This record gives sequence, C-alpha cells and structure tokens, in this order.
Amino acid sequence: MNAMGQASELLAIREAVQTRLDQLLPAGGERDLVTAASREGALAPGKRIRPVLLMLIARDLGCDNPAVLDLACAVEMVHAASLALDDLPCMDNASLRRGRPTLHRQFGEDVAILAAIGLLSRAFGVIAAAPGLSDSARVEAVAQLSATVGLQGLVQGQFQDLRGGAAARGEDAIARTNELKTGVLFSATLQLAAIASDACAATRQSLAGFATELGHAFQLLDDLADGSADHGKDAHQDLGKSTLVALLGVEGVRQRLQAHLRTADDHLACACGQGVATRRFMRAWFDQQLGVAS
Ligand code: IPE
Ligand code: IPE
Ligand code: MG
Ligand code: MG
Ligand code: MG
Repeated sequence: MNAMGQASELLAIREAVQTRLDQLLPAGGERDLVTAASREGALAPGKRIRPVLLMLIARDLGCDNPAVLDLACAVEMVHAASLALDDLPCMDNASLRRGRPTLHRQFGEDVAILAAIGLLSRAFGVIAAAPGLSDSARVEAVAQLSATVGLQGLVQGQFQDLRGGAAARGEDAIARTNELKTGVLFSATLQLAAIASDACAATRQSLAGFATELGHAFQLLDDLADGSADHGKDAHQDLGKSTLVALLGVEGVRQRLQAHLRTADDHLACACGQGVATRRFMRAWFDQQLGVAS
C-alpha cells in the first residue's frame, strides 16, 4: 500500500472510532452535565493512537472479528477517563487538553470526576456487550482491562508520578512509573487485539514486549513535547518534575526513545509476520511526531 492509501486507511479507522464512540455514549438530556462531560472527554479530538493500534494489529493478525471496533472504543474511554483525572487541580492542575479547556474547567471538578468514573464503567460495559467474542475471550478481556486500570496499573502509576515526581528520582524509578502510568494501557490495547484474534502465546508475548517499549517511547515523546505550546495542552506542565528529560536532557532522551522504537519494531516483526500495517504506521507516526516535538 502506498502512502496515500495508508493515510486514507488511517482516516477511515479514526472516523469509524469517532462514530462508534458517539453511538456508545449517547447524549443525555439538556441538564445531564455528567453525560455531556463524558462525551466531551471521549469525543474531543485526540490522536486516537490506542484504538488505531488495536485495529491495525488485529488486521495484521488476520482478524476480522467485529468486536475489534468496540474493544478499541473501550480502550479510548479508559484513556479519556485517565486524562480527565490527570488534569484535575489535585493532580496536574491542567487548564488545556486537546486544544480545549479541561473537563473540570468546562464542567466543574465534581462533574469531571463523575464523568471519568462514568467512562471507566462504560468501557467495561462495552466489552461485556461486544459482538463476536466467546465467553472466555470476554472474561479475559475484562480481566485484562481491570488489571490495567487497577491498583497495580494506571492508578498505581498515577500515584507514583504525583507523589514521587516532585522529588529527585533515578532513571529506573522514573522508567518504572512511566511503564505503569502509560505503558500498561498500551499493553492492554495490544492484548485485547490478541484476544479478539485468538492469537497464540508466542504472539502475545511479542505483543507484550512491543507494548512495553512503545509505552516508554510514547511517554518520552510526551515529555519532550512539554515545552511546546502547540500540542493542545499547557506548556511546561512538567517544570520542577523529575522526568527523564530533566535527568538526561533532550538529546539523551531522543536517543533513548529511538532505542525503544528499535526494540519495539523487533517485537512487532516477530508478532505480525507478514502483516506490516502496524510497523509502517509506527514508523511514520513517530517520525512525524518527533519532527514537531523538539
Ligand atoms: C496523553 O496521551 C497522556 C499520555 C499517556 C502521555 P495522548 O497523547 O494519547 O493524548 P490524546 O488522546 O492524543 O489527547
Ligand atoms: C500521562 O501523564 C499519564 C496519564 C494518562 C494520566 P502526563 O501527565 O504526562 O500526561 P499529559 O501530558 O497530561 O497528557
Ligand atoms: Mg500526569
Ligand atoms: Mg498531565
Ligand atoms: Mg505529559
């Protein structure tokens, strides 16, 4: 497939995700602010990298299970919930997200918290009702996402980031926190694709390796972009925080990021065999993002 074909394929995936999210989160009444905030959190224009990856990997694995789109939307709902919580005054105290005022700035803190809980719950409901999954696959998918969000997953990562980030930390401690706050949701994204595809244990192992490396690369990219004002978020959110950029400098982090991407690609090649859609997407996406991140 040429570059134009690839671009229109990505556009089609993003549109399908947007349409399905809209259907899965129907508008409430005029006074139902919490539903309005949930929809704003999920439907506002994000990069959609997690649903795109889930759908591309599934395709590379030869999967045509109709559950894939709903699983992709469930992951995006969890992600949107994590952003709403991350932005709260008691956490990162952010005012801008996806180029718009953060949820608590638009709707108030009470509504933003309730919307995040609503989105999390909806994500599990979507998996419970997704078409085309066997009972055992459904249970496995729910268990996977539960572990991802839970006390030793995103929640733990966010806690470590908030309470540990203010003090000096070593490289390993920062990387471990990054894995929990960002990597685990990529792991779930890839494992949900593997579950829908009924992938073998070796493929799942390679996808797990890929997700971990991608999680590191992605958080480093996010940290590198912190100084820029054109990514739809507050600039310099990380001032005073012990990130790898603060510890190693921009050049050190760029090198480290490239090393993660190389290892990620090795894992992906093992997982996907003949399928190259995800590898091609990864390369083009990071090249483009790194061009604007520095
Ligand atoms: C931001 O995620 C939070 C991190 C894990 C760094 P994204 O960069 O995917 O945010 P959106 O979805 O595009 O807004
Ligand atoms: C990303 O942490 C982890 C979360 C999703 C919550 P950040 O705090 O760096 O994410 P941004 O920069 O606000 O998107
Ligand atoms: Mg944060
Ligand atoms: Mg933040
Ligand atoms: Mg950040």
